[in-house]
Amino acid sequence: MTAIRPLQRYREAVVQIRVGLLGCGVVGAALVRLLSEQREVIAARTGIDLSIARIAVRSPERGRGLDVDQSVFTADADAAVAGEDIDVVVEVMGGIDPARALLGRALELGKPVVTANKELLATHGAELFAAADAAGVDLLFEAAVGGAVPLIRPLRESLVGEPVERVVGIVNGTTNYVLTQMAETGASYEQALGEAQSLGYAEADPTADVEGHDAGAKAAIIATIAYGAWVPAAAVACEGITGVTAHDMEMAARFGYVVKPVAVVERSGGAGGDLELAVRVHPAMLPARHPLASVRGSFNAVLVEGGAAGEIMLYGRGAGGRPTASAVLGDLVDAAVNRSTGSAGRIGKLGRARIRPIDELESAFYISLDVVDRPGVLAAVADVFGRHRVSIRALEQHGLGADARIVFITHRARERDVGATLAELGRLEVVNELGSVIRVMGE
Ligand code: NDP
Ligand code: HSE
Repeated sequence: MTAIRPLQRYREAVVQIRVGLLGCGVVGAALVRLLSEQREVIAARTGIDLSIARIAVRSPERGRGLDVDQSVFTADADAAVAGEDIDVVVEVMGGIDPARALLGRALELGKPVVTANKELLATHGAELFAAADAAGVDLLFEAAVGGAVPLIRPLRESLVGEPVERVVGIVNGTTNYVLTQMAETGASYEQALGEAQSLGYAEADPTADVEGHDAGAKAAIIATIAYGAWVPAAAVACEGITGVTAHDMEMAARFGYVVKPVAVVERSGGAGGDLELAVRVHPAMLPARHPLASVRGSFNAVLVEGGAAGEIMLYGRGAGGRPTASAVLGDLVDAAVNRSTGSAGRIGKLGRARIRPIDELESAFYISLDVVDRPGVLAAVADVFGRHRVSIRALEQHGLGADARIVFITHRARERDVGATLAELGRLEVVNELGSVIRVMGE
């Protein structure tokens, strides 16, 4: 009997590819470490030897505990892009400026780019994608959405022929962590956010996470790639998690829901065959049995609903240095291999989509109201709902001394009608305070 031969792992020719790294914070430092661990394996599997030639940071003199020569660090970001010793540029510095100009320059010089910068892509992606295609080089950004979760490549490649109907996901690790900690450990909002920051999940300015702008940028990128039409971050309706209270979480559990930070991208019809999309980000109450309800902590998950494929769920660590570095490294290897063979992936020509205004959309809602507790109040409140065509599905009332808190779950209603209901409720003399308003999904 012939023995099975071991896989031929090592190749004869090893191509040197030198990397210019822009940024060495949470993600950049994790990438340097991961590349050092995986360098030989990558060389064995691909024939590419990846090395970090320069690292641009704000403070090059600062010790970072990395196994690289200190002389590699520079404050001169241009040198980490345009230097003759740079073959591929990896950007993990974040923000728009100077990242936009640096990546534009790299592409102009015909150097492939890998980036984790969703803010930049969701604002100036159209210009950068066109520059990459014109230069015939890769612009890869798997880490920009969902951390370690492979989502961009499946959407760009495996699902390129799929009639995608809807993508709904949890795409921000910080807010999912905060809501999970509040619900499961009783942690305060501030305490949970502080932990998310110290674990490296949050953006440099965590306002981007908690106000929904980080998830909004990711939703814009998902919409652009899933539908091949340019959708900028500015077109995404964003609502953050700052208004979600411990009481809302308690009530959600009583009604059989979990509060999650969701991003929704869906085809919403459109006359004459024009593409019309609805793209939004907000906290939502999901039924406990919903596939996204069990996604906890900093984990992300994206449910793609395709007309042919059916449902596909992608799940994994959505934030943090090492998981994100894994996605960056995957892109880096891809870009390096393509560079060595003279090929590149193309984004292709992006079309246009009408973005449906949020007040035209429909949802069920959870609404919390503090009211005066006396006869006729519930009838007065219910009358306002009824006159605006918002139908109540369930309600629960709790005493607050002389006052009361009533929480309602509505049937599906138009956002505009719910807005009008809330405006009128706010003017009722018997309503002391309008509390939280949270969309209810998946019913
Ligand atoms: P950090 O703030 O930890 O790191 C940023 C790095 O960029 C630092 O090394 C900083 O230098 C350097 N830098 C910033 N501005 C400049 C500048 N003008 N010139 C030179 N260097 C600069 O950010 P993260 O690592 O957390 O995030 C990086 C990118 O990755 C962002 O786009 C983020 O959205 C994205 N991302 C982050 C994830 C995460 O979990 N953290 C997950 C997915 C994506 P210095 O160290 O000297 O201050
Ligand atoms: N701040 C982001 C998050 C990092 O919490 O998801 C990953 O993109």
